Amino acid sequence: MKRTTYAGLVDEKYLNQDVVLKGWVQKRRDLGNLIFVDLRDREGIVQLVFNHDISEEAFKQAEQIKSEYVIEVQGKVVSRAENAINPNMKTGKVEVEVSQLTVLNEAKLTPFNIEDNTTASDETRLRYRYLDLRRPEMQQALMIRNRITQAVHRYLDENSFINVETPYLTRSTPEGARDYLVPSRVYPGHFYALPQSPQLFKQLLMGAGFDRYYQIARCFRDEDLRGDRQPEFTQIDMEMSFMTADEIQEMTEGLLKAVMKETLGIDLKTPIQKITWNEAMDRFGSDKPDIRFGMELKNMADSVEGAGFKVFDSTLENGGQVKAIAVPGGADKYSRKKIEEKQDYIKRFGAKGLAWMKVTEEGFAGPIAKFFKGKEEAICQAAQANVGDLLLFVADKADVVAASLGYLRTSIAKEMDMIDESQFAFVWVVDWPLFEYSEEFERYIAAHHPFTMPNEEDLDLLASDPHKCHAQSYDIVLNGYELGGGSIRIHKRSIQEKMFKALGFTKESAESQFGWFMEALDFGFPPHGGLALGLDRFAMLLAKKDNIREVIAFPKNSKASEPLTNAPSVVAPKQLDELYLKTEMPKED
Ligand code: AMO
Ligand code: AMP
Repeated sequence: MKRTTYAGLVDEKYLNQDVVLKGWVQKRRDLGNLIFVDLRDREGIVQLVFNHDISEEAFKQAEQIKSEYVIEVQGKVVSRAENAINPNMKTGKVEVEVSQLTVLNEAKLTPFNIEDNTTASDETRLRYRYLDLRRPEMQQALMIRNRITQAVHRYLDENSFINVETPYLTRSTPEGARDYLVPSRVYPGHFYALPQSPQLFKQLLMGAGFDRYYQIARCFRDEDLRGDRQPEFTQIDMEMSFMTADEIQEMTEGLLKAVMKETLGIDLKTPIQKITWNEAMDRFGSDKPDIRFGMELKNMADSVEGAGFKVFDSTLENGGQVKAIAVPGGADKYSRKKIEEKQDYIKRFGAKGLAWMKVTEEGFAGPIAKFFKGKEEAICQAAQANVGDLLLFVADKADVVAASLGYLRTSIAKEMDMIDESQFAFVWVVDWPLFEYSEEFERYIAAHHPFTMPNEEDLDLLASDPHKCHAQSYDIVLNGYELGGGSIRIHKRSIQEKMFKALGFTKESAESQFGWFMEALDFGFPPHGGLALGLDRFAMLLAKKDNIREVIAFPKNSKASEPLTNAPSVVAPKQLDELYLKTEMPKED
């Protein structure tokens, strides 16, 4: 029989009609002469009633069905008795009196109940992902993701973007993360690399004259996993010719607007606020500031200098910073022990300590309050603190102060419920440094990637003082997450060569790794730029989840493996032989 509609869509408009529904048994309740079954499909749940008087046979069969059986039913939609109406269900005013039941398939007892707020462990959920994905919250999360991609295709098509696929088997180029490699059978000892992003291909497409490119592209990066990082993830990847950074941002804002409207019905106000990287670091201690709340970092140098507190004075004498945040109402909320825990935590950012004072009616309280007698007003003014607040100070080099106070700002805001979770706060962070120092590599690396154009006025510095250059790059940040990033690209060989030199490439090594790309720049390459949005992060934020795993159908676990199919796995010796590979197992200790 052909299905009439989804179980979750049966409502008063079907009253007194016969319907055919197909789906899963959520649960069965046996009341002796009546059996109630909740029937579930992707749209929701409807209540089925089995009654001797309607069909003896269907009733008998219903006594046998269990949770997660797949069934087909035919029956009449009727109103529920007044006292049985469930206002929390879309289908709560009706039920279906079943006249015919067919069991399409049975089900064993599932390892966990198919319902929201599951207590199953992450590992179990991934091991039985197809069951996990049956849960309504997972279905909704993937549907939000689908709404995003549909809106993206529509908006970009309307704006004359051309969808082009780029290869997955590519050449390894040093970009940021470690590559996933694929051995070549035809060329022993040679490897393809899976792309970390389509960056150079999309630039080549600009060289080829496509003018506006997009792709919803899978990217692969072998890096340590976090809640917002997966080894394979998806970018909404865009590139445009003949457009300024402002124009590219405006086009992106149009896209964000379309997505917000079509997924959540939200009218996003544009233009989106822009702040420079310097300002973001100064005010929020982060290059991806969460602007849904205040508690900004304040420069305390003028108000604390010369008070005799050595830690501050010596830091300032050595060219460092003293900054503070004022935690509203934090004086009562934060005990000395809790503050010490915070102090221990920020040591990982290089902080040497965490100085604090509580603002009381009688002045400052706390071990260092004695140094600042008579300076209460100036300090409170500088920190924008009031009675009842907790002042937290870090004195150090600018980057340590930013990382430490930036972390404290967001972690305390969460602990104190200062964040309005209903908000979607977008902000552009612009004017980034072109390079950043990498402790790991002990040299400067490209802050975005090596194809990013320096600011026009910094071009002369590229040869002499590269590390002072700023870049024509921009990130779009949403609720404290880096949602996307992009830049205007270098389209002239002479600048690209200087860039590689500044990154420590010799002429020969740049030529051998990127010669093919620089050659393309010689043949009339247009000015161009673009950006990529992280689709997984976007879906996570719109679905109000805290891990991108929740919006990916078959993600990897935190150890980069996939518990359902058990990837990665060992392979047959013959497969290795064909690839001229030998594996040596690490010794177990
Ligand atoms: P970038 O490396 O900043 O830029 O990546 C763009 C966006 O992709 C998302 N992202 C990730 N999401 C999940 N897991 C990961 N491991 C992961 N890594 C990155 C983020 C990020 O903002 N080619 C450039 C873009 C360009 O310049 O046009 C690029 O890849 O949301
Ligand atoms: P000390 O004089 O080292 O005992 O430190 C006094 C207080 O200052 C303690 O609460 C330390 O945690 C704090 N402190 C030490 N170094 C710093 C620093 N660089 N920034 C902020 N507070 C600090």
